[in-house]
Formats: sequence, C-alpha cells, structure tokens
Amino acid sequence: MNYKDFGLVNTRAMFADAIARKYAVPAFNFYNMETLSAILEAARTTHSPVILAVSESAMKYMGDDLLMGMIWGKKFTPESGVALHLDHGGSFEACAHAIELGFSSVMIDGSKLPFEENVALARRVAELAHAHDVSVEAELGTLAGIEDENTHSETSSYTDPADVIKFVEQTGCDSLAIAIGTSHGAYKRKSDDEKLRFDILAEIADKLPNFPLVLHGASSIPQHFVKTINEFGGDIAGARGIDPTQLRMATEMNICKINVDSDSRLAFTAGIRRNLAEKPAGFNPRDYLGAGRKLIVENCIDEIKNIMGSDNKLN
Ligand code: G3H
Ligand code: 13P
Ligand code: ZN
Repeated sequence: MNYKDFGLVNTRAMFADAIARKYAVPAFNFYNMETLSAILEAARTTHSPVILAVSESAMKYMGDDLLMGMIWGKKFTPESGVALHLDHGGSFEACAHAIELGFSSVMIDGSKLPFEENVALARRVAELAHAHDVSVEAELGTLAGIEDENTHSETSSYTDPADVIKFVEQTGCDSLAIAIGTSHGAYKRKSDDEKLRFDILAEIADKLPNFPLVLHGASSIPQHFVKTINEFGGDIAGARGIDPTQLRMATEMNICKINVDSDSRLAFTAGIRRNLAEKPAGFNPRDYLGAGRKLIVENCIDEIKNIMGSDNKLN
C-alpha cells in the first residue's frame, strides 16, 4: 500500500517549514501501543507535526500486521501532519519493505560504509523511494552508542563538511543525518564540558543552505527519570544526555529533525518502576503500563515545547 492510503505525509513540506521557521520536527521512536499513543497524544496536544520512527528491531517486535494495523486505525489525514519513518534502515531491502508497507519516509544508514559505497546504497534507495514519493534520509559520519540491537559502535567520527555537497548531490537524499557529538543511548557525556561541535554544524549549514539536517542520538536524558529509576530498584548511575539548550540552538542552524528514543524509554521505565514499587499488591498491566505511558506523554510535550519548538506549527 502507499502511505497516502494511510493519510500520512512524507517529510518534504515538514522540513521546508521547519527550516523557514527555525524549529525541529520531533522524531520519536515507538515499539508498542503505549508508546505510539503517547507520542500521538503529545503531538496532538501541542499542535505539533510529528515523525513516528520505527527501527528494524521495533518492526520485528511489533510485527508488520499489528504495526500497520495501529497506523490504519488512527485514521490520519494529511492535515494530521504525521510521517511514518524507518529509522536506521540497514539495507536496500529493509527500505523497500518499509515503502511497500506504507512508510512515508526511510532512512538508509550506510554511515559505517566507505564513502563511495554509502553513496551508491543511498542513491539506489533514493531512486526507489522517489518513485513512490517517499522521502529519504542518509547519514555521513558515525555516532557512538547502540544503533540497534545488532550493531554497537564504540567509536564516532564527526561528519567532514568537505564531503557533504558531493554526498547530497550524488545520492539525491532529501535530508542528511550528521555527526557533531551526539550519540545513541543513555550515556552520552562524561561531563558537562562536552559540547556539540557547532563549528562543524555551521560549516555544513553554510555548504548546504536550506537543506534539512538531522540529529540522531539527541535525547537529553532528564535527570528526574534517572533518579526515579535508581530510587525504585534500577541501576543507571551516570546516565547523561545532550544539553537541551544546545539542541535548541541547533534548530536555528538547519537541524530540522531531532531523534529521541532513550528519553521515552526512561520515562516509561520510571513510571512503571514507581508504580510497581508503590503498589506491591498490584498486577494489572494496564495500571503500570498506563503510569509509564503518562510520563512519556508529559516528557514529549515538554521536549516539543522546550527543545524542538514545534508546538503550534501544524499548518
Ligand atoms: O537509534 C536507534 C534507536 O534507538 C532504535 O533502537 O533498535 O533498540 O529499537 P532499537
Ligand atoms: P537517543 O538514544 O539519544 O534517544 O537517539 C535516538 C535515535 O537517534 C533514534 O534514531
Ligand atoms: Zn539514531
């Protein structure tokens, strides 16, 4: 099926507006009914466009039928401002499958490949995607951290601004994920002194004026969730994220999509741990999953307003 049958939109108009009005469209990952409905409630409450991001492992976890059944059930229209995006597609086949299912946007992540191979793969995906009016994100530079359940990169390399024009021209991608110091997972920085490389971002934005740039690994790891999780039996001492002020600054420099997964995972876990600890006799999953879901809604609303700046941007 085509994504238009699901009332979804691709990311092209979203990003054009985000660049013009200097905000970022949130890309929140989901993997079950609670996370999907929480993200949509936050977007609706704040009148924000939203990108629903699904990793390959999350697709496998939900199953194609339940995943697309939930999307179908929401009865979106183009006015809903919702894109369904494959996050970190690892192969041409994975992207082709997502397009066939009804995704409106795909990321082909060839960032660990040599430059020419990354270009060739992204170009092949872009040709297929564009034939279906689906938008394509590609990545240059690598982020440290857990990218999915199968790959774990210990090292990172910043995006080289000298490569970006050639990469975008040769691949035909619609947006570019760059590495400027963010990383996946909950342990991003050892100290507050570690800052994003705004010098690299400025150089890239200068070389690609008005071109949509994407930040992965951009969770801010709210410390109240870390505290709650540790207080109620967890052990994630030292979890630390990206400074929200720096993320906000990045939205002024053509970063028009900000990816957040870990923050929602922490919110969900914090709510569930607290609920189970405070109600030792409870065993109703709707009660504790609902408590986790509530914290995701609150956190997504907070980030939409205070980091992305995408509230009230639904046209
Ligand atoms: O950037 C990757 C996302 O956080 C997805 O992670 O493969 O565990 O769903 P996942
Ligand atoms: P975080 O681990 O910082 O949430 O990053 C999520 C991400 O980049 C998804 O693609
Ligand atoms: Zn990512």
